[in-house]
Amino acid sequence: MANNKTGFTSSFGVIMAAAGSAVGLGNIWRFPYICGQYGGAACLFVYLLFVFLIGMVLLMTEFVIGRRSGFSPEKAFPALCPKRPAWKLVGLYGMFTCFLILSIYLVISGWTLGYFWESVTGTLSSIANDGFADHFEAFVASPWKPVVFLVVFLAFTLLVILGGVQKGIEKVSKLLMPILLVLVLLLCVRSLTLPGASKGLDYLFHPNFALLNWEGILAILGQALFSLSVGMGAMIVYGSYIPRDSNILKTATWITVCDVSIAVLAGIAIFPAVFAAGQDPAGGPGLVYQVLPVVFNSMGTVGQIFAILFFLLLSLAALTSAISLLETLTAWLADRGMKRNVAAVLVSVAEAALGVFVAYSFNGGLLSHITPGGMNLFDWVDKLTGAYLPPIGALLTVIFFGWVMKKEDIYDELSNHGVLKVSWFKVFYHILVRFVAPAALLVSLVAGILT
Ligand code: PFF
Repeated sequence: MANNKTGFTSSFGVIMAAAGSAVGLGNIWRFPYICGQYGGAACLFVYLLFVFLIGMVLLMTEFVIGRRSGFSPEKAFPALCPKRPAWKLVGLYGMFTCFLILSIYLVISGWTLGYFWESVTGTLSSIANDGFADHFEAFVASPWKPVVFLVVFLAFTLLVILGGVQKGIEKVSKLLMPILLVLVLLLCVRSLTLPGASKGLDYLFHPNFALLNWEGILAILGQALFSLSVGMGAMIVYGSYIPRDSNILKTATWITVCDVSIAVLAGIAIFPAVFAAGQDPAGGPGLVYQVLPVVFNSMGTVGQIFAILFFLLLSLAALTSAISLLETLTAWLADRGMKRNVAAVLVSVAEAALGVFVAYSFNGGLLSHITPGGMNLFDWVDKLTGAYLPPIGALLTVIFFGWVMKKEDIYDELSNHGVLKVSWFKVFYHILVRFVAPAALLVSLVAGILT
């Protein structure tokens, strides 16, 4: 680290924390419904291509930028190329993206925590199967429920950040990530053993290329980046906490494999159950709140236990991601000279304020009548943060990395100052970083926006 910041204690800690950032609502809430919209396995195929060719390259890029500079994004870019200080704008753009993502993240996490609570108290299991759509609508339109749960969730997140990088983030991630894996595996086993489960697997793994258009490709690209938490500087911050002797390629590979596996496992847990209960698999953003409770109800008494486990899983996954978003913004202000804890509290207050607006703008909420361009505020933030902002940030970052930053610095960082053998460097740098990733990002962005 260029400065004497506290970082993670081990490579395992880095992997758990960064996988915690990557695995989140994107994997369990968004990935299955995007797969449903854009052709099942066809979507999965494009997704895997994007994740490994672009997402993982960006993950390594951000780790190198973070560890080499020792700073959060606004300072990291100029530190690596002092002659061109304007690159700090890319860092600031990332902070703006993180700020928006955290606001919508808090809203959805609030719903999830609310549903967890309602599954524990038995409220959910007392609802008739045809009542869940109405229940979800009433929940999100309630003047107090989404906000109360949002604030409680934010308080948990803030507590971890106040605990610090090692005793807060690293410790909590090491504890929660294994629990998450066990929970998702448990749900998969239950889902796969339901009668008619094979139809769900067919839906997920049978490619329907007719549903895949350019808009879909951009959405999948955005999802691949969003899911790995790249294109907005968050992994630059975690990169600045990576120990000097950690192998960046290995670390990034582990994180990517974890992220993809959990997304696919979430699909395996959700779709067979959806089909077994005769529900609509293309349920969109409401899928896990409107459709899954029906599935749990149709399992009889164990259904309540599975509902509790599922919403716990989703809440924990959301928590480790929200932690990294709040940490990114906190580290940014701390690098500008603010006290760390003051920064964390300040960001939380600002996020709570924006989060309340976003929460109230969802279907039926107090502000849902405000619809510039025909979309409410929630849909705007969802579209921007899910599809548009990350690819633009990713494109700028990879251009900086491949064409502005010194090649020798990158080599030095990836080889841990010559200690590791990096025979793959040429392919990585000259092909993936300089050409494949920027070209794929540019084409998908332009085609997606034009169509
Ligand atoms: N990767 C998270 C998800 O898939 O839900 C979202 C996310 C978390 C994006 C943290 C960006 C970030 F900094």
